[in-house]
Amino acid sequence: MTELKLAIKETTEFIKSQGVGEVTFGLILGSGLGELAEEIEDKVVVPYNEIPHFPVSTVVGHAGQLVYGTLSGKKVLAMQGRFHFYEGHSMQTVTYPVRVMKALGAHSLIVTNACGGVNENFEPGDLMLITDQINFTGTNPLIGPNDEELGPRFPDMSNAYTPAYQEVAKKVGQKSGLHLKEGVYMGFSGPTYETPAEIRMARTIGADAVGMSTVPEVIVAAHSGLKVLGISCITNLAAGMQANLNHEEVVATTERVKGEFKDLVKKTLAEL
Ligand code: HPA
Repeated sequence: MTELKLAIKETTEFIKSQGVGEVTFGLILGSGLGELAEEIEDKVVVPYNEIPHFPVSTVVGHAGQLVYGTLSGKKVLAMQGRFHFYEGHSMQTVTYPVRVMKALGAHSLIVTNACGGVNENFEPGDLMLITDQINFTGTNPLIGPNDEELGPRFPDMSNAYTPAYQEVAKKVGQKSGLHLKEGVYMGFSGPTYETPAEIRMARTIGADAVGMSTVPEVIVAAHSGLKVLGISCITNLAAGMQANLNHEEVVATTERVKGEFKDLVKKTLAEL
């Protein structure tokens, strides 16, 4: 057995021993969006620092635990807080929980994040359905030997964000009277916010939003054959489009729209 598979086995055995049963949907809850996990029923909570092969997340606003249970009638395993490349974790570590979700039986992943709006029609507080992504992190979590049992050497990214899931989310958004935006998420390594010049470049090459997460997890989800729904919260206009950027604004915006965000994810999940 490869080192990675052995680690996954040890991690999943531990998680199961804590009372986590069947998983259908994995959920990754981004900055300020972790509250959704509190609505999970019949919860089993597993702190990251107790899980073998899991690192500890270091960002303010990230609780750092797995929350298992029922949400919108589905068996979900939520990450309350994720791992970022800019924290110094390897890309393999950042994406390890996605491998674990797959090994626990998940067929789908819902990824969420806080990000900056590049599209001039976006406003802080908008929710954006992710239709595609640009990997601008400078690396890729699949670099290295490939284990064919986990996925193909050259995964197809044509439909990394599952089109049928996007249709469902759009319908739910319309029914809720929500002006759900849609667009391409471009992932940078961070931790600096982008420069105005980088944002002009991002817009020119087709990005609607920029952030420091999600891209690696979705690459591994595609490698693993997981269906993906991605929802971004536009917390600010990107660099050069507003006076300055700061984490406090990111937190304040997610705080303001978390009700709408939770509603959209729960109602969409019910229909998936
Ligand atoms: N850039 C990158 N990441 C972010 C931003 C941004 O403007 N806002 C929230 N996360």
